[in-house]
Amino acid sequence: MRLANKVAIITGGAGGIGLAAVKRFLEEGAKVAIVDYDKQQGEKMEAELGENVAFFAVDVSKLADVKEMVEQVVDRFGKIDILINNAGITRDATLVKMSEEDFEKVIQINLNGVYYCTQAVAPHMIAQGSGKIISTSSVSGVYGNFGQTNYAATKAAIIGMTKTWAKELGRKGINVNAVAPGFTATPMVEKMPEKVLQQMEGITSLQRLGIPEDIANAYLFLASDEASYITGHVLQVDGGIMM
Ligand code: NAI
Repeated sequence: MRLANKVAIITGGAGGIGLAAVKRFLEEGAKVAIVDYDKQQGEKMEAELGENVAFFAVDVSKLADVKEMVEQVVDRFGKIDILINNAGITRDATLVKMSEEDFEKVIQINLNGVYYCTQAVAPHMIAQGSGKIISTSSVSGVYGNFGQTNYAATKAAIIGMTKTWAKELGRKGINVNAVAPGFTATPMVEKMPEKVLQQMEGITSLQRLGIPEDIANAYLFLASDEASYITGHVLQVDGGIMM
């Protein structure tokens, strides 16, 4: 049990990579707060996954709701040891076609949402003198990606915030890291054309897309005591798509 007695918040935990992480963390003994704006799916998972799961129907881009959620998680489970900033969206278009609305929406969720959740959780971790914060970047944030001006901007920003928070919070006993997945088979990627996905598999050293569990295992490692001396790191979990 690598997460025995730990309490984790996993944003975007109702589906895709986040849900795989919820299940993996439960197997390792954690209590998990699923934070997701998909109420129907979140309630279904809460009912299915048992008493160590609590669902909070929250949009991470709404600051007041995030603050309230964090207090409710502490009321329910007594503390917060782990924050996984996993919620994210895409609204792809090439630069000249990208609408201001699509640009702003992705910034609000993928960037502001990570800042809001981390800022609301950090005081609890500082007070207890320990914590693990893991945010989900992307290979798009490291290398850029066609059609993803908005998304790549937020995923690069996560790397900058991760390194900044690692410097600020290290002395408080808090590890701050990012995971940068490659193309991973989830509902997010199902929106992409089949031809593009085949191309992606072709340029990946391991010749396949990732599965949600590949990324969940990286979250688990960074959230565990095994990663106690790792901070400010960006762990690429991408099958060797780019090196
Ligand atoms: P997904 O679309 O399958 O699941 C995302 C989950 O987040 C959903 O349950 C959704 O309801 C929730 N969510 C979205 N916006 C939210 C908000 N404002 N507030 C609360 N919940 C919200 O996506 P997937 O693939 O599981 O992605 C998870 C993370 O991994 C995202 O940050 C994504 O950018 C990142 N990522 C995914 C890759 C992939 O190939 N699937 C590649 C690189 C990064």
